[in-house]
Parts: sequence; structure tokens; C-alpha cells
Amino acid sequence: MNKQLEGKIALVTGGSSGIGLGAAKELAAQGARVFITGRRQQELDAAVEQIGSSATALRADASVLSDLDAVYAHIAKTAGRLDILFANAGGGDMMPLGAITEEHFDRIFGTNVRGVLFTVQKALPLLSNGASVILTSSTTSIQGTASFSVY
Ligand SMILES: NC(=O)c1ccc[n+]([C@@H]2O[C@H](COP(=O)([O-])OP(=O)(O)OC[C@H]3O[C@@H](n4cnc5c(N)ncnc54)[C@H](OP(=O)(O)O)[C@@H]3O)[C@@H](O)[C@H]2O)c1
Repeated sequence: MNKQLEGKIALVTGGSSGIGLGAAKELAAQGARVFITGRRQQELDAAVEQIGSSATALRADASVLSDLDAVYAHIAKTAGRLDILFANAGGGDMMPLGAITEEHFDRIFGTNVRGVLFTVQKALPLLSNGASVILTSSTTSIQGTASFSVY
């Protein structure tokens, strides 16, 4: 079968579980060389087992800019460019308005806003002509969910 993404280089942030892992598997199945990120090494290792030998796991927190620099430095050195960026790392937890703390606010915004913006900004020098950038959003931005206000 002709693989649509043969020779392409992809990065999936938050690629160790859920939507990111599913996307990383499909990208690899279509022939792409896939880099994934996440904060937990054990989950990253388990994900690589599932994705296959084209996958490389890089432990990185999307909200930490020096981690993003290290990810892109590794991709620049080992692959030279990026054709597909899926900025997917994110998530939230339930917290009623009266209980929201500064730590909760900073963590949710750090991952879902700051992290997404700098994940894309820092990829710019590596993106090839016609590269694809995919962002994960949420239905929560359209319709509110109780106790999910910061997210
Ligand atoms: N599931 C849904 O119903 C739904 C709906 C709308 C939108 N979304 C969005 O879709 C994306 C994926 O959701 P999911 O349901 O697949 O979540 P998930 O199964 O919890 O996976 C989240 C992934 O992101 C990683 N991650 C979380 N915070 C991170 C951080 N600060 N830095 C780097 N990696 C981080 C996690 O690994 P570590 O924890 O090891 O870092 C994991 O690999 C998220 O952005 C979420 O907000 C989900």
C-alpha cells in the first residue's frame, strides 16, 4: 500500500496517551517519522512500544520553554526539519470557581495557552514549505462545563 506520509517528519506533543497517541500511531502507520512529547517517561516508553520503531519519545513539559527548546534542538539535529506539528498537549481538571488557586490557574494556562503558543512559535524555524500545523482545541471554548471554568 502506498503510504501517504512516507518521508515526513512529525511532532505530536502530548503523544503518550489519548488523542495524541492515536494521532501518532496513524502518522507512523502512514509512513511518517514521529516524535512525541509528554512529561512522564514511563508513558512515553509505553507509547513508543505501541507506535513502532519510527517513533522517538522526548520528555518535555509544554509549558516550560527550555523543554521546548530542547525538543526542537533534538529534532533539528536528528531530522533537520518538521513537516507536521500537532500541538496537542493539554488538559484540565475540575475546580469550582470558589476553590480555584493561583497554581491551578497557572498550570492550566501554562499548558493550554502559553504551551500551545510557544510550541508553535519555536517550531517556525524548522517548519518546511507547506508544513501542517494542527492545534487541539476544546468544546469547552464553545459551551461551558460546570467547574471547568479555567480550562
Ligand atoms: N478528551 C476529550 O474529550 C477532549 C476534548 C476536547 C479537547 N481535548 C484536548 O485534546 C488534547 C488531548 O486530550 P486527551 O483527552 O487525549 O488527553 P490525555 O489522554 O490526558 O493525554 C494528554 C497528553 O498530553 C500530555 N500532557 C499533558 N500536559 C502536558 C504538558 N504540560 N506538557 C507536555 N505534555 C503534556 C500527557 O502526558 P503527561 O501527562 O505525561 O505529560 C498526555 O500525553 C488536550 O489538549 C485536551 O485538552 C480533549
